[in-house]
Amino acid sequence: LGKKIHYFEEVTSTNSIAKEIAASEEEGALVIAEVQKGGRGRMGREWVSPHGGIWISVILKPGIPLRHASRLTLVAGLAVANVIRNMGLDSRIKWPNDVRINGKKVCGILTEAKAEVDRVDYVVLGIGINVNMDLKDIPESFRAGSTTLKAELGTHIKRVSFLQDFLFELEQQYILFKTQPFSHILNDWLALSDTIGREVKVTTPSRIIEGKAVGVTPDGALVIRKADDTKEEIIAGRCIYARS
Ligand code: BTN
Repeated sequence: LGKKIHYFEEVTSTNSIAKEIAASEEEGALVIAEVQKGGRGRMGREWVSPHGGIWISVILKPGIPLRHASRLTLVAGLAVANVIRNMGLDSRIKWPNDVRINGKKVCGILTEAKAEVDRVDYVVLGIGINVNMDLKDIPESFRAGSTTLKAELGTHIKRVSFLQDFLFELEQQYILFKTQPFSHILNDWLALSDTIGREVKVTTPSRIIEGKAVGVTPDGALVIRKADDTKEEIIAGRCIYARS
């Protein structure tokens, strides 16, 4: 990954650029920007992307069925969490894509895919990591639930070496993803996730589901056991812990 890098000072969204060029790019090409003016989060939300963070999109061509594309969100979350843990911080993953430290979000992942019939042509893995910015650069409405690596470590991070470590780890996980049963990655992901076993409330565009998070399916859907003891699988949604 990262043999080809498209670097920008400022863009609307690295994911939007990556999607525009993905068809003619090789697997592993990256789009990186110092600042995003229209950074996008999941479910149509905004992603605040000032100077000091890592805003990056990775173009992948795994040739998998579209329904498996969300597995790559778990792969990327695992890679980010591993790299942060190697720095000595206790990072955990909140389903489906938030990497957190002490309950505060340090990274978000937006996976977008284009498919022909059922096979993906490409997957764009958009990863945003709060690295060196000051918390005051994050708007107040997001600040309480967010943190940065600098705030957690108490020191400035060398972004280039962090990015190298991250790309190396992501490549390792991606190789495992392509060569091994997905259950291996899922087990590693489950070991770092703090979602399973919690009472959760998940909001999807159509409804709200409450219950206990009891597992994740091989496609990355969260399994919730509801009060009436029935189980439900949710492929995408916003998850809130009832007691944190
Ligand atoms: C989320 O937690 O809602 C996902 C946030 C994803 C942010 C990254 S930053 C790089 C890439 N470009 C975007 O516009 N979004 C993703």
